[in-house]
Amino acid sequence: MNSYDDGKPAHRVTTAARFEHVKRKGLYFSLSLIVAAGLAACNLPERSRSLGDPNVAAKTLALQVCSNCHGVQGVSVSPNFPNLAAQSQPYLVEQLKSFKSHGRSDPAGFEYMWGISARLSDDQIDGLAAYFSSQSPPPGKSGNQTLLKEGQKIFEQGIVANNTPACSGCHGAHGEGIQQFPRLAGQHADYIVKQLMVFQRTDERPEGVMMKGIAHELTPENMKNVAAYLEAMAPAQ
Ligand code: HEC
Ligand code: HEC
Repeated sequence: MNSYDDGKPAHRVTTAARFEHVKRKGLYFSLSLIVAAGLAACNLPERSRSLGDPNVAAKTLALQVCSNCHGVQGVSVSPNFPNLAAQSQPYLVEQLKSFKSHGRSDPAGFEYMWGISARLSDDQIDGLAAYFSSQSPPPGKSGNQTLLKEGQKIFEQGIVANNTPACSGCHGAHGEGIQQFPRLAGQHADYIVKQLMVFQRTDERPEGVMMKGIAHELTPENMKNVAAYLEAMAPAQ
């Protein structure tokens, strides 16, 4: 009856269930080890980079965690990582909360920012936004003159033929941003194009309803031009 290969379905189920149980126990064990290692790390001051400890100062997180991608002073090397320097403080708070609540779900945001923001406290979010918004704005880069000229027209005048409004109307005459309208001056062109595509083609940035309407008529060429102009824009004196 109980021979190994009696072939009874009930027996097979039991074996499979037991195997699952052991597997889960194993998983649970490895998770406990990771958690224990994490907790131990929290007690070492030099390991205070631990996300999820509300006692770690925002500035420490900025310098030890965020800086790896966004740069120590919020100016990043790779265009995959947006510049945060001199970004509007309320905008930074809103975006961090939106990553944390899984509102902003564009693929790079989901991949990179959901985990990082998951356990930030409101105080840490306020402090991180204060730190990055108070850094010097990114310097403008040089760019292709033809693109810049076309981009400047869109930024300052919009596109009359299809009712695209001037970007400067909301983002400021110098692209400096204010309140919920982000700074665009000095931002990486690749990042700007990517976000314009997100607004135009998806609902992955639910706080960006205004931008969805505005990006609606932009062609890939329009996007490239305006992004080149913005990346080249030097901070207003
Ligand atoms: C491993 C890399 C990485 C780290 C570390 C990281 N970020 Fe990010 N962050 C990204 C990427 C990639 C994006 C762009 C997401 C997108 O395209 O939607 C981003 C986007 C953001 C944005 C939105 C910017 C905008 O212009 O809308 C904010 C704000 C932000 N990060 C803050 C932080 C803060 C604060 C920390 C530290 C607690 C941090 N990030 C750590 C990769 C990172
Ligand atoms: C009516 C006001 C308004 C106008 C006009 C406007 N924007 Fe925006 N824009 C916003 C708001 C609000 C946001 C923030 C959206 C969010 O919180 O998700 C934003 C966000 C953006 C972002 C994302 C920035 C980041 O760091 O992720 C880009 C890029 C952008 N706008 C480009 C443009 C361009 C280019 C134009 C002109 C063609 C333009 N905007 C015109 C209101 C406006």
